[in-house]
Amino acid sequence: MDIISVRDFSKEQVEEILSSAEKMEKKIGETQSSGKVVATLFFEPSTRTKLSFQTAASRLGMRYIDFFGEWSSLKKGESFTDTIKNIDGYVDIIVMRHPKEGSAKLASMIAEAPVVNGGDGGNQHPTQALLDLYTIKKLKGKIKGLNFNLVGDLKHARTMQSLMYMLAMFGAKVKLTSPRGLEMDPELVREVKEKFNAEIEENDKMDVEGVDILYACRIQKERFADPYEAMSVQKKFAIGMENLKGAKDDLAIMHPLPKVGEVDLEIDHTPYAKYFEQSKNGVPTRMAVLDYVLKHR
Ligand code: NCD
Repeated sequence: MDIISVRDFSKEQVEEILSSAEKMEKKIGETQSSGKVVATLFFEPSTRTKLSFQTAASRLGMRYIDFFGEWSSLKKGESFTDTIKNIDGYVDIIVMRHPKEGSAKLASMIAEAPVVNGGDGGNQHPTQALLDLYTIKKLKGKIKGLNFNLVGDLKHARTMQSLMYMLAMFGAKVKLTSPRGLEMDPELVREVKEKFNAEIEENDKMDVEGVDILYACRIQKERFADPYEAMSVQKKFAIGMENLKGAKDDLAIMHPLPKVGEVDLEIDHTPYAKYFEQSKNGVPTRMAVLDYVLKHR
């Protein structure tokens, strides 16, 4: 099975992966061995997604091979198609990230091996949404009925596109808050409202009252035509302690990371901050993902 978009999943499949992740977390540190090899093909910068997939593969006793576009034959003019065809001949799973929307889908049409999308432009980041759900379930014991506020560049952040869909699938209530011009794609909002009968509201000011999870993301400046415009909105959308007045005691602040100023450092030292724990959950979740795609070839 390829994992290209959150649309590839039924609710039952997501639940199966989350419960497998729980078992994987308990098994971390046990010696395992497998003859399988994973390729991590990242054509865009990455810290967590790449390293947690590599760690997940290692924890499962698999090997991984890495790829650096800058040092590959792409630099000599080799095509994307030929690159994928060759790597497909070497490995059992391809995990990839690429700046172009649709690139993971294209790779999945070229490769025999399952392809897992680690982010394609501003489109999708399905395994981030899975680890987010895993984190929320660990923190709150459920997803249904929780109040979420998704804040930031909802137009370009693939993490938010994937997360909103999954939250709607699981019956959460979602408020979307973004700077003007950076709103979530209205087509996607319409799609999830219709598909899941979801409660989704849009507002242009952050409001933490009654919110269980405040989920922030960075302004995706690399996807802006004008970087100065990106910098100006970034400053306006930072979360500080002053924004948390009236918040529930057990408010959880999540973030896919990297955070680059949109959450005050001071918040890191409060019990609200759950983003480092969230990042750590990337390993068991991605162990479950690798295991799942191999079992469902
Ligand atoms: C995100 C991404 O690459 O989309 N990072 C991640 O995978 N955790 C978020 C971002 O870059 O803003």
